[in-house]
Amino acid sequence: MNPSRRPLIVGNWKMHHGGPSGVELAADVARHARDVPRVDVVVAPPYTALAACAHECDGSHVEIAAQNLSPEPSGAFTGEISATMLLEAGCRWVIVGHSERRQLFGETDAIVARKVAAALKAGLLPIACVGETLEEREGGRTTAVVERQVRAFLGALAESDRDAAIAYEPVWAIGTGKTAGPAEAQEVHAAIRAWLAESSAGLAPRTRILYGGSVKPDNARALLAERDVDGALVGGASLDRVSFGSIIASAESLAAA
Ligand code: 13P
Repeated sequence: MNPSRRPLIVGNWKMHHGGPSGVELAADVARHARDVPRVDVVVAPPYTALAACAHECDGSHVEIAAQNLSPEPSGAFTGEISATMLLEAGCRWVIVGHSERRQLFGETDAIVARKVAAALKAGLLPIACVGETLEEREGGRTTAVVERQVRAFLGALAESDRDAAIAYEPVWAIGTGKTAGPAEAQEVHAAIRAWLAESSAGLAPRTRILYGGSVKPDNARALLAERDVDGALVGGASLDRVSFGSIIASAESLAAA
């Protein structure tokens, strides 16, 4: 964490809590967020709960993210949701290029770049995800893979003056209980910040780089304490208000220190 950037903690609910239970969870998070003035808190419900959760969080400092968007602005794209629609539903953020989208739904670097650009153009803030698989890490290709993924959307970020975020989520750490050690995460985050700096002077200091992959109450503090770890993208632990609250509280106490 670096005092020049506010910590950002995002809960990615994935395909859970798309109805009333999501609204209840959002209300719990909004209540908890009153006690964490130094942390930006975002929840990413499924599409079906976006508007209701946005309504529930109105007046709190919890903001809403979608988990995906169409790269197209409008048209005959059955089943797709555009950036403008997400803004209309009350979103401020959108997760783009999550590894589950890349692996299960065929999203390429080029598609992710188009989605990042579409979000920024419409005024939605992307949380662009990158990360290597276990095979890539074991083959010594972590830096090369993450660099390729980041460079794909770097141009879109550099062209915009909006505050996007990048999430480093090693694929082998997602939902597995394994996390990158704080030093391992810091190494990749520092590399990402260096690529941002090369691309545009203002981008590196203002872009928040989040760590994701089995972030839990018992490991969050050590990860967030690293200099280039500006927050967390939390999956499983964000479905439980106590666990998510405890991760947010860790960020608040580090920011207050
Ligand atoms: P877990 O926290 O469940 O490992 O999920 C991480 C993730 O994919 C967040 O986007």
